[in-house]
Order: sequence, then C-alpha cells, then structure tokens
Amino acid sequence: MKTTDRVALNDWYAIATASEVTAQPVTTRLLGQDIEYRLSESGAPLVREILDDGARGPVLPVQVRYGCLFTSLGTPVKDIVHIEEAEEEDRRFVPCGWVTMRASGLRVVENFLDMAHFPFVHTDILGSEPHTEVPTYQSEIRRDVDEVWATNCTFFQPRIAATEDKGDFVHLTYRVPSPFVVMLYRVCPTSPNRLDAIALFIQPMEEGLCRAQPVMYLVDSVSSHKALLNFEQVIFLQDRIIVENQRPLLLPLEPRAEIPTRADSSSIAYRRWLKEKGVRFGTTAGAA
Ligand SMILES: [Fe+2]
Repeated sequence: MKTTDRVALNDWYAIATASEVTAQPVTTRLLGQDIEYRLSESGAPLVREILDDGARGPVLPVQVRYGCLFTSLGTPVKDIVHIEEAEEEDRRFVPCGWVTMRASGLRVVENFLDMAHFPFVHTDILGSEPHTEVPTYQSEIRRDVDEVWATNCTFFQPRIAATEDKGDFVHLTYRVPSPFVVMLYRVCPTSPNRLDAIALFIQPMEEGLCRAQPVMYLVDSVSSHKALLNFEQVIFLQDRIIVENQRPLLLPLEPRAEIPTRADSSSIAYRRWLKEKGVRFGTTAGAA
C-alpha cells in the first residue's frame, strides 16, 4: 500500500540505472506503491503507478541524472541533489549496481555515515585494529540548504582506495541532501587537492526493504573499471549483513531509543533532521 507520508512522497528517488531502461516494462516498488518504468514509443523514459486492479495509473515525473532514472510519487519540493563533481570531464563515472536489502533505507543512510564500524566490518580495507577510535568531527544541520553535513572526519584506513595498498588517515566529509540520499567526499589519494565524490541513492520499496546504488565520481586514471567496482561491491556486501541485522529493523527517531556515543554525532543530527521534517516512512513511528 502506498505510504501516506507526504514528506517521503514529495521527494525524488532513483529507481533504475538509466542505461538499463528499455521498451520492455519493468515493475518495481516505491514507498509501498507498485510502479512501472519503460521507454515510450518516442524513446523517452516513462514511469507510471500500477493501480490495485492492475490498470496503469498516473504518469509520474521523471528525470535522468547521475546515470539513474529518478521519479517521484508526489510533488517534489526540492530538486535532485546537485553534485558538482559530476560535471568535471576528467572524472571516472562508476555506477556500482543495485543491492537489495531487507532494511529500512534510513538505516542504510545511517550505516553509511558511521565510521566506527570500519575496523570491525570492513576489516583490513576501510579500518583495522588497533585503530578503532573515531577522532572528533563536526556535525550540523545546514539550514540554508536543508542538508545534514559531517565535516573534518578522519579515520585510519589500511587501504583507502582501489589505487592504494598502504594505510593512512583519510579525510572525509559526509553530506545528506535528502532523507534517502547520502554522499561521501574523500580526499583523493592520487590528487590530494581534489575530492572523490560517492553518492548512495536509495530506493525505499517498503518500510523495511530497499535497494541502493552507489555512484562514484573519481579522480583515478589508474584503476580498471572492474577493480573500482570490485572494491565498492565488497564493501557494500559487508554493509548489507550489518544493516539487515540491526534491530529494530526500522529507525527510531526518539532520543535515547539507542544509546549514542560521541562518534555518533552525525547520526544524531540525521535523526533530529528527519524528525523535524516529519519523515515517518522507515521509522519506528510507522507510516503505513
Ligand atoms: Fe560500511
């Protein structure tokens, strides 16, 4: 059943890899609602709701950006996130493919923001013992743009990117431009004055089911496409095990529902921001 959560409905969501959309209709689900996407006779992408009786419902808004087909079930109040790095011609564009997870999309965002799990979940890749401490960083809700940012993040990583096989402290910035989109900017190991940009686009299907695709804009002229993909996919499959095993399955927004530590300040800002917005889909408050 389609959610009644107006905030969730009035947002854009990536629902497919644009290059994989053909004239053959594909049914998928967004916010509890069945939808269908395909190329129309004119070759333009077309997304429609599928009504309860199987008939095709209203045509939904579409945009193609960052290699993905985006749609909305409502009236978007904000455009899809602007990623400046996507416009730089020397960047490698790496869409990493969709991973389906039995988890709330909001949990997936929160896991993406979390550095404390690196040594334990991505052992010897994004973290390693004894380097388990998360150095102090800053988190804020940026009111002018209505986004959550975490800045001055550093963490010791044994292998910080596909190009690197030595450990070092990486410098990271996190950005949450909308409830189901999260980004990471990482100082590029081969070009320290530039930032690699990684966006994670989440398609919330049901409250406790989602798909997500990492899309990377990298300054890396060395690694093969396959090496870049493998690096990201290994990490993402490790994360899937974690988010699918978190309880409660849905994200609690009430303060003190889970005991935070200093390392969780980005997650605290994210939950506060979701609560202020009135997001219910994928939270323990429920939105069916
Ligand atoms: Fe992770």
